[in-house]
Amino acid sequence: MPGCRRQRLPAQAGRRGQAGVDDARVAARLSDRPIVYSPELENIEVELFVQALQRRHGYDFSQYAPASLKRRVQQLAEQLECKTVSGLIERVMHEPLLLPSVLEGLTVPASDMFRDPPMFRALLEKVFPLLACYPQINIWLAGCAHGQEVYSLAILLEEAELYERSKIFATDLSEYALQQAREGIYSTREAQQWSRNYHASGGSRSLADYYSARYKLLKIDQRLQRHVTFAAHNLAADGVFCEAHLILCRNVLIYFSNPLQDRALSLFRDSLVRGGFLCLGLRESLDYASSAEDFSPFDEPMRIYRLSGQPDHLKP
Ligand SMILES: C[S@@+](CC[C@H](N)C(=O)[O-])C[C@H]1O[C@@H](n2cnc3c(N)ncnc32)[C@H](O)[C@@H]1O
Repeated sequence: MPGCRRQRLPAQAGRRGQAGVDDARVAARLSDRPIVYSPELENIEVELFVQALQRRHGYDFSQYAPASLKRRVQQLAEQLECKTVSGLIERVMHEPLLLPSVLEGLTVPASDMFRDPPMFRALLEKVFPLLACYPQINIWLAGCAHGQEVYSLAILLEEAELYERSKIFATDLSEYALQQAREGIYSTREAQQWSRNYHASGGSRSLADYYSARYKLLKIDQRLQRHVTFAAHNLAADGVFCEAHLILCRNVLIYFSNPLQDRALSLFRDSLVRGGFLCLGLRESLDYASSAEDFSPFDEPMRIYRLSGQPDHLKP
């Protein structure tokens, strides 16, 4: 029938067969209906939402920590003005352009330049001198969000005179986050705090040497991208990424269930060279890793671990 669209008529109207009920009146009556919410219902909806996202777009969130995932799905439904999570499912199914906002909402791409300065200082003072013996240094930064951590690392490598022989592979699940990371444009709002973090991390110049500011935005100097490759990689689904001497995956595992943390940590173990370093977020650990015994603590408070075994180049 030309112009015929799927329409949910109220049951009464359907039974009485009221012909000619116009869309506006139907919509008004539907919006008057009380909606039932309950935690159990919402659990079902969140499960269906996760299935819908996976089947429609291929992103699998089924192994994320359930309580925080549910909270983020609910927040997303609210932000997108959906009355229920079921409403969000409908939008995710039929509005592909919504996907970047959905991924942003679910993955929390929050970051900072030189986040946790004592950790960056430990890298600079304790880890970099050991990496300096490699002719080429491969670094995998998993879950790079909008790139602040990538540029922080690049700056410290540059100041330690290691950048020229480094390759940084910066990955994230979200293409949208990667796009922001490639652009390297941030608000100047946090510049002062970032500058303090930079100095607390052992930075020896001025942070302003590494960006140009215009109006309320700062753009990271392109030369810091010379040895950076941005790529999509999903820790829940993809395999080993590169032969790395250093892996940073900070503030990502915290969103995962224990089995998914275990998967990611096994991936890191298999991607590191012997004697390679792994840095986790300060609230993360190897507690749920079946690979835990392959690592030894290098700087436990800073969550820096080292893969056991002698580096190949030091073997007799
Ligand atoms: C809170 S940010 C952490 C950013 C940065 N590492 C830091 O510590 O400041 C978490 C990032 O992990 C990414 N992420 C979440 N799930 C992921 C997955 N399965 N695979 C790869 N990245 C993922 C998100 O897209 C987000 O950008």
